[in-house]
Amino acid sequence: MLGTRMELPCWGFLLMSCLQSLSAHNDFFTSIGQMTDLLYTEKDLVTSLKDYIRAEENKLEQVKRWADKLDLLTATATKDPEGFLGHPVNAFKLMKRLNTEWSDLESLVLRDTTDGFISNLTIQRQYFPTDEDQTGAAKALLRLQDTYRLDTNTISIGDLPGVKHKSLMTVEDCYELGKIAYTDVDYYHTELWMVQALKQLDEGEESPIDKVTVLDYLSYAIYQQGEIERALEFTKRLLELEPEHQRAKGNLKYFEFQLEKQKKTEEQESQKEAQREKRETPEKKEKTKSQKTFSLIPERKKYEMLCRGEGIKMTPRRQSRLFCRYFDNNRSPHYVLAPVKQQDEWDRPYIVRYLDIISDAEMEKVKQLAKPRLRRATVHDPQTGKLTTAQYRVSKSAWLTGYDDPMIDTINQRIEDLTGLEMDTAEELQVANYGVGGQYEPHFDFGRKDEPDAFKELGTGNRIATWLFYMSDVSAGGATVFPDVGAAVWPMKGTAVFWYNLFPSGEGDYSTRHAACPVLVGNKWVSNKWIHERGQEWRRPCGLSEAD
Ligand code: OGA
Ligand code: FE2
Repeated sequence: MLGTRMELPCWGFLLMSCLQSLSAHNDFFTSIGQMTDLLYTEKDLVTSLKDYIRAEENKLEQVKRWADKLDLLTATATKDPEGFLGHPVNAFKLMKRLNTEWSDLESLVLRDTTDGFISNLTIQRQYFPTDEDQTGAAKALLRLQDTYRLDTNTISIGDLPGVKHKSLMTVEDCYELGKIAYTDVDYYHTELWMVQALKQLDEGEESPIDKVTVLDYLSYAIYQQGEIERALEFTKRLLELEPEHQRAKGNLKYFEFQLEKQKKTEEQESQKEAQREKRETPEKKEKTKSQKTFSLIPERKKYEMLCRGEGIKMTPRRQSRLFCRYFDNNRSPHYVLAPVKQQDEWDRPYIVRYLDIISDAEMEKVKQLAKPRLRRATVHDPQTGKLTTAQYRVSKSAWLTGYDDPMIDTINQRIEDLTGLEMDTAEELQVANYGVGGQYEPHFDFGRKDEPDAFKELGTGNRIATWLFYMSDVSAGGATVFPDVGAAVWPMKGTAVFWYNLFPSGEGDYSTRHAACPVLVGNKWVSNKWIHERGQEWRRPCGLSEAD
């Protein structure tokens, strides 16, 4: 087994290459596996908080008893002070109380019962999520909202497909999300979430956030998107609530001025447009419309459509040529005795799925081995020379070998038996966990001609093929999609898909460009094996032409 692992440079046009490395902070929001630990930490903290409350109540109880006793005593004593002190025991007790007992009481009141709780909290807080995590989780929500076309209210009332635990968002939550979008100069989402916050306030929800604050953000976000008329409406609403709001007063005048100016330019434009319309032929207009066919839709849109289960490009004729079968690859007796279920997923590029190919016990073991090592993949930006995380790859991964557990060797052997390919030159088994919003945007697994050094240090050639185990079912989202050809492969626990990235000639197959859709609800575990060219010379000989 070679100790090889490599992240493929992607987004080459941005001069960024992905490098796997340990990031200093362990972004929680990217992996549910590690977030579950946080739930237990929080549970422990609640227990320690309850201990603190009990200790504090106990202390107050003692202080109360002392006060009641003294209350009674002083009341009797002050009725007849001289008579009271005429009793020598009372005189002695007064000395004792004032000299020692009151100082004991002082110590009791000052005794620190917070100690255990505070030190516990301080220790735990070192491992708490940071601002980065909070923003990351918020941005993931915004990304999901776009990809799956969810409206703000649906998210706020927690009505997502396949959810087990509904969760409501408060005005404050909506406002926070809007503010994160605002800080990110994303006025589109700022508007959506401030409108939602306002709606919930209008419906009478109690909140520390007031309408004026929300309206202030809202009118600004709308103005930034060029809708001066609506920005003006909201500014007026703000001024009804707070007539002396300085910024709103200034904005009102400014928006009115801008609106006037805009109306004038619009009038001029529409006159020009009317003249242009007269000159343009009907055929030309028709052409502009029909250009919007699937192949012309930008990749981003295709990716999002496929993620939503739309735009899959498989004709019934082609579909009828996809089969399923029992498969033994004519290899080890084991598979001859117990062949595996193999199913065609797609024709071009050829993608095949193996069913029941990894057992529950194996998947559990792989996850347990990977969990403590899961790290957010960072990317290397050669311009700054710094390692950083990227929105286009949000997941955590770890690498496993036979040294970690002999079971990994068994799994690798299975891939070798079924693909007939040499595993000694392959990269280690990579395990990836995608949390909610986790995704991997369109990329190639192989190194292209303009990046000849991609796998140079491995010395095993390019990535000839990809094997991908699905180790969980995903409640919603999380498909593997191929935007160029319109294919979508859905995660199914215990199955694996396999495809060649290179033609037998060694040329890259550009139709294998693929992506992992964001997880909408649930937790996605995959494990993949990137198989390399060296050692396959006799196992997969090259053809006579480039695309062969
Ligand atoms: C990858 C990849 C797809 C998926 O890790 O290279 O494309 O569905 N993964 O996780
Ligand atoms: Fe990939």
